[in-house]
Amino acid sequence: MKGVGKRLFKDWIFKNPLGRRPSSHTTDEWKRIVEAVESAVPLYESISEAISFGLAGPLRRRAIGWLTIFKEGWTLDLGSGPGVSTRFLVSQGFQKVVGLDPSQRLLKFAKSSADSGFHPVVGVAESLPFRAEAFTSILTCFALRDVMDLSQSLLEISRVSRQDGRFAIVDIGKPDGRFRSRLVSLYIRFGMPLLARLLIRGRIPGNPFRMIIPTFERLVTNESLNVLVQREFGPSRLQEPLLGGLVVLEARRAGS
Ligand SMILES: C[S@@+](CC[C@H](N)C(=O)[O-])C[C@H]1O[C@@H](n2cnc3c(N)ncnc32)[C@H](O)[C@@H]1O
Repeated sequence: MKGVGKRLFKDWIFKNPLGRRPSSHTTDEWKRIVEAVESAVPLYESISEAISFGLAGPLRRRAIGWLTIFKEGWTLDLGSGPGVSTRFLVSQGFQKVVGLDPSQRLLKFAKSSADSGFHPVVGVAESLPFRAEAFTSILTCFALRDVMDLSQSLLEISRVSRQDGRFAIVDIGKPDGRFRSRLVSLYIRFGMPLLARLLIRGRIPGNPFRMIIPTFERLVTNESLNVLVQREFGPSRLQEPLLGGLVVLEARRAGS
């Protein structure tokens, strides 16, 4: 399955010349984003928690709560990275969890701290190496903003979800209102990198959390994300904690 993931990723990259979609990351920027997460690994969870004002963990748990009715079926943790949400899923009794990520290094790290219910797969959201309707629940935490093609990723997520399956997103948000958007943007551009730097205290090279800035710049607004999810997946409910600087979206796959 790993090999398939890698092959599809290469095919996808070459078939989709980048820059075609205005909201996409360039390949170089995208690689730097993935490398930034890799280099942040030792401090990733604690600093993510701090820069989200202690909300990252509780919001992951809230999203997982929405998926709980399907904990016996196959669950996809999309963009699982170092496996923080995967660990929560497994500890909440989810029995068959697939963690998908383009980074082998991050998947290895996730595997080392998870138990036998965790299945790592190398791949990208834009071209998921799974059959249609393979999953009853899909979770993506702080990863959807990193994909290169959001619409294509949502189409793929919809394809691999069972009808009536559930999908939860937790991520940084971009509020629709001008005042809140300004405030959040100021925090992401200036407050967050400073706070991260103070917490890193030279323990890892540079400040990988600065890579959140370009991903924030390219984010669609919270309401636009909600509309896209409703269009590609099904009815959804948007929650906007921290003045909309974070989002939790819970969606149910519409039947055909
Ligand atoms: C900020 S980390 C989040 C990790 C984890 N989900 C969490 O909750 O902490 C974002 C992850 O998305 C992954 N990613 C980036 N582009 C992706 C893509 N196109 N498809 C799937 N995952 C992707 C990165 O490799 C990285 O591990």
